[in-house]
Amino acid sequence: MRLEGKIAGVTGAAAGIGRATALAFAREGADVAICDLDEEGLRETAVAVGELGRRAFTRVCDVTDSLALRGFIGDTVTELVGLDVWMGNAGMSGSDPAEEFAEDRWRQVVELNQNAVFFGAQAAGRHMLAQGGGSIINTASMYGLRSAAGRIAYCTTKAAVVMMSQVMAIEWASRGVRVNAVCPGYADTGLFRSGRRIDPGSLERLVAEVPMGRLVQPEEVAEACVFLASDEASAVTGLAMTVDAGWTARGSG
Ligand SMILES: NC(=O)c1ccc[n+]([C@@H]2O[C@H](COP(=O)([O-])OP(=O)(O)OC[C@H]3O[C@@H](n4cnc5c(N)ncnc54)[C@H](O)[C@@H]3O)[C@@H](O)[C@H]2O)c1
Repeated sequence: MRLEGKIAGVTGAAAGIGRATALAFAREGADVAICDLDEEGLRETAVAVGELGRRAFTRVCDVTDSLALRGFIGDTVTELVGLDVWMGNAGMSGSDPAEEFAEDRWRQVVELNQNAVFFGAQAAGRHMLAQGGGSIINTASMYGLRSAAGRIAYCTTKAAVVMMSQVMAIEWASRGVRVNAVCPGYADTGLFRSGRRIDPGSLERLVAEVPMGRLVQPEEVAEACVFLASDEASAVTGLAMTVDAGWTARGSG
């Protein structure tokens, strides 16, 4: 098992990519600390972690509340005795043309997709620096690497996640803490499906842009995160790893 004896924290773990990754970490031998706004979903993830024979420390927590987020990280260290892997994953979409983007919505997306990811990585990083090592994975997006019309807040915040991961990576590289971003493509989750409800035809149009001609499964993103979390990735830091079925590589051809 690739994460035997490790403690891994994941935000937004009640569903989608966060849940799939918490379960993949547990399957590889990690005890997990998971938080989310969704209490019921969180409980289901915790039960599934238990069925894999690992411990789950759960906390209903709004990650945009930085005090609560730091509290969750501090309590994880106490309850599970350490923190080796941290995944700042909770995020939201936000799609409106730039000229119409509402100020409160903009601030909401920045708070969750960018500020909460930074404050989580900072708090986890402080602990890891003190203990002499660790692996941080921040969930960005292929939209953090390429612009997309109508997605000003999403693209901007996800690009910030890629860049903050790289800056933290170089600042902490000599002290044993690796920081990487994972950049999923169109992944089949509640978040992705909710954005397509208004226009069912948009799913077909989006899939047609993907070289593999299909959506990415959350479990495929989770497997990339297991690699980044594990000692197999001991020289991998500052990477923006796409898991997008070829979308970013496609260019305009
Ligand atoms: N699904 C995709 O196509 C896709 C593509 C690229 C990147 N991503 C990114 O992956 C991450 C996970 O997305 P997903 O598709 O699994 O979404 P999802 O909606 O299935 O899961 C997100 C989880 O985050 C939780 N959450 C939302 N706001 C929160 C808050 N303030 N505090 C705590 N928890 C909160 C939700 O309750 C939910 O359980 C996000 O950062 C998203 O931007 C998703």
